[in-house]
Amino acid sequence: MQVLHTAAELRAALAEQTGTAFVPTMGNLHAGHVSLVERARQHGSPVVTSIFVNPLQFGVGEDFERYPRTLDADCAKLEAAGCDLVFAPDVAEMYPVPQSFTVQPSASLTQDLDGAFRPGHFSGVATVVLKLFNLVQPRVAVFGKKDYQQLLVIRELVRQFNLPIEIVAGDTLREPDGLAMSSRNGYLGTSERIQSAQLHQALADIVAAVQAGEHDVEALCAKARRHLNMGGWRVDYIALRDAATLGTTTSDSARLVVLGAAWMGKTRLIDNLDFTPSAQT
Ligand code: PAJ
Repeated sequence: MQVLHTAAELRAALAEQTGTAFVPTMGNLHAGHVSLVERARQHGSPVVTSIFVNPLQFGVGEDFERYPRTLDADCAKLEAAGCDLVFAPDVAEMYPVPQSFTVQPSASLTQDLDGAFRPGHFSGVATVVLKLFNLVQPRVAVFGKKDYQQLLVIRELVRQFNLPIEIVAGDTLREPDGLAMSSRNGYLGTSERIQSAQLHQALADIVAAVQAGEHDVEALCAKARRHLNMGGWRVDYIALRDAATLGTTTSDSARLVVLGAAWMGKTRLIDNLDFTPSAQT
């Protein structure tokens, strides 16, 4: 496996290759990331993974500085997973000049949910992903459903800028108690870690209620918010949406997604579950 740090080395290494399958990450890799690499291997060769903690997508007061950077351990995991090339640029390599041209995703996709709580976040994500796509020039790129709104933003980026890249969605890998794997789980203290499975449970309870025919979505989400707040969480949002658009659900919604974001102490966790409704909502 090659580990490269500059755009020039990356271009040279990929010059002869076609069919690259790409997995962008911010590192501190866990089994969820590794599952995306394994997914990428089914779709193309070589498999390229990027590791870059992107300052553009972190807001003021967010965890850019303390975000874990574990390149050696990450490379060992990637090598074992069959990744062919790791691109690990530093900030000066990705942003040699201040990034004055940026991608502004449509408000309809980003004014709500995580976009409302993290202003500028999805612009930062879309901008760095477009830059990484241009550097790596993949045929396929794999993103996790764990960051569901991000996945839709990337699909829209590809569609609206006519990028010749197929976007593949990977399922969310979870710990045995249901907690979605995340680099940020490492911030949790022991008792916070035990409590943190409640977020997934709250979302699963909403799915079960909807599937059992419960129609009052607002009441269900409000109940989940109250329940989590009482359990020591500070909830940013719990919402049930159309899985294709993230708009409000209609009787035409073929798939639904229930999404949540909440703070456990100083750690903000997000999660979601997408499903096909068995009853009309
Ligand atoms: P990061 O949080 O490192 O996530 C990299 C990829 O791993 C994303 O596509 C994310 O959805 C996926 N992922 C995270 N947790 C997962 C889990 N438990 N199971 C399966 N997949 C999971 O998302 C980013 O980085 C950045 O925003 C990035 C796209 C790299 C742009 O900077």
